[in-house]
Amino acid sequence: MDELGDVVVAETTLQARIVELGQQVTEDYADRSPLLVGVLKGAFMFMADLARAIRLPVEFDFMAVSSYGSATKTSGVVRIVKDLDLDLSDRHVLIVEDIVDSGLTLAYLRRNLLARNPATLEVCALLVKDGLQRVDLDLKYVGFTIPPEFVVGYGLDVRERHRNLPYVCVYEGD
Ligand code: IMP
Ligand code: MG
Repeated sequence: MDELGDVVVAETTLQARIVELGQQVTEDYADRSPLLVGVLKGAFMFMADLARAIRLPVEFDFMAVSSYGSATKTSGVVRIVKDLDLDLSDRHVLIVEDIVDSGLTLAYLRRNLLARNPATLEVCALLVKDGLQRVDLDLKYVGFTIPPEFVVGYGLDVRERHRNLPYVCVYEGD
């Protein structure tokens, strides 16, 4: 498919890093049972692999947000499309995100979830685009910092396509 460009993170690199992230989470949350909050849809694949690399009793919940804007640019206006099922009070919540671009989605999510009184709230983002964030996001776990290009694969889409690629690559279509 010629709309797919250079590979940004190869499958083996991705999987090796996720194992490391899982080990880090396992150490940091020892004796606690974190509640993983996946941000749909993009984070579903990362969430599944990360969870299998965590050696703790974890619980899962998901929320879906949509940000208004075009297919490849976010507007920063976020709407909750599916809210969480579980109560966050006194839970050790770990937000699992696919990618941080402007950081606006995450800033919104963090504010929204903090208002529900979790015991702790941290973020694990697989990908962070270099240099685009205007706010300090305080990301506890980051998989990879990547150049500020639009990418697809491993959960990330353009108009719902390419989420099933097992690697992350540049999208060169329009
Ligand atoms: P932000 O609010 O600008 O940080 O954008 C975050 C959201 O936009 C992510 O959760 C993704 O759903 C989407 N997004 C940002 N950059 C990309 C990309 O390069 N490929 C696919 N989706 C992206
Ligand atoms: Mg998306």
